[in-house]
Amino acid sequence: MSLSVKHLLGIKELNTQDIETIFRTADNFKQVLQRPIKKVPTLRDTTIANIFFENSTRTRISFELAEKRLSADTINFSASGSSVSKGETLIDTVNNILAMKVDMVVMRHSASGAPWFLSRHINASIINAGDGTNEHPTQALLDAYSMRERLGDLKGKRIAIIGDIMHSRVALSNIFCLTKLGAEVTVSGPPTLIPKHIESLGVKVQYDVKKALQWCDVANVLRIQLERQHKPLFSSLREYALYYGINKSMLDSLEKEIVIMHPGPINRGVELNSDVADSDRSIILDQVENGVAVRMAVIYLLSGKSEALD
Ligand code: CP
Repeated sequence: MSLSVKHLLGIKELNTQDIETIFRTADNFKQVLQRPIKKVPTLRDTTIANIFFENSTRTRISFELAEKRLSADTINFSASGSSVSKGETLIDTVNNILAMKVDMVVMRHSASGAPWFLSRHINASIINAGDGTNEHPTQALLDAYSMRERLGDLKGKRIAIIGDIMHSRVALSNIFCLTKLGAEVTVSGPPTLIPKHIESLGVKVQYDVKKALQWCDVANVLRIQLERQHKPLFSSLREYALYYGINKSMLDSLEKEIVIMHPGPINRGVELNSDVADSDRSIILDQVENGVAVRMAVIYLLSGKSEALD
């Protein structure tokens, strides 16, 4: 079992076989995580650096836990409080970390393309934990894995991605992943938050969120990323919530049950109301749980260890 890539930089570079291999491996690790001892010795000779140049709660904790469950040694680096503030470059920072005999790097960076740039200058495998507005591959993998767990094979399933598509690395990675798996994808939200020509990625656009909800089997609702919006793209959060926010009464008015997802963090009362986020329709915490198994699978497959998973 191996992947066709040395790094996980984006879903764009993976083939469908790679995604299926990650899912099968994650199935094994999910079983490990149900055991009283939730750990395998597989990576006990491996050291992994988690280098985060941008804030994170879920991804960072999930990677660290996945590494510990695989028995890897881990070090955690945050840009704040480091020598980055003294002007050290990305390559110097990472090469100094690698000089301490680190085998793999998990990196989040605010600049789109930063992991690709790094991959041309270092030998260690890199896992992209989110780069700017570009890709968040492990989020898309855990999203698709969670959808598959609920719906079975995703071929022909209808997935609506709703919200701030323009600034979302989760949206782009989801689009690449879901279309490779044969799902039908529609993006929905205000016209100012949907990139022009996004149909060229093989998706449909539906500006009316209620129609998108009526069409889909799953709604993956995304966060409004105000920190990336440098000019106003809608009048107010209140107006956004009124026209594009998902609430219980909207879902009750549909002629069917749909699954609700969100990668987190949620702006409660804006893109998603608590009466939906905390309801039985929501699999948000399943996504978080599956994230550990999926990240264990990615790390294991990129580590080049072929020993049995016991
Ligand atoms: N979903 C996600 O990437 O969350 P964090 O920013 O908290 O890691």
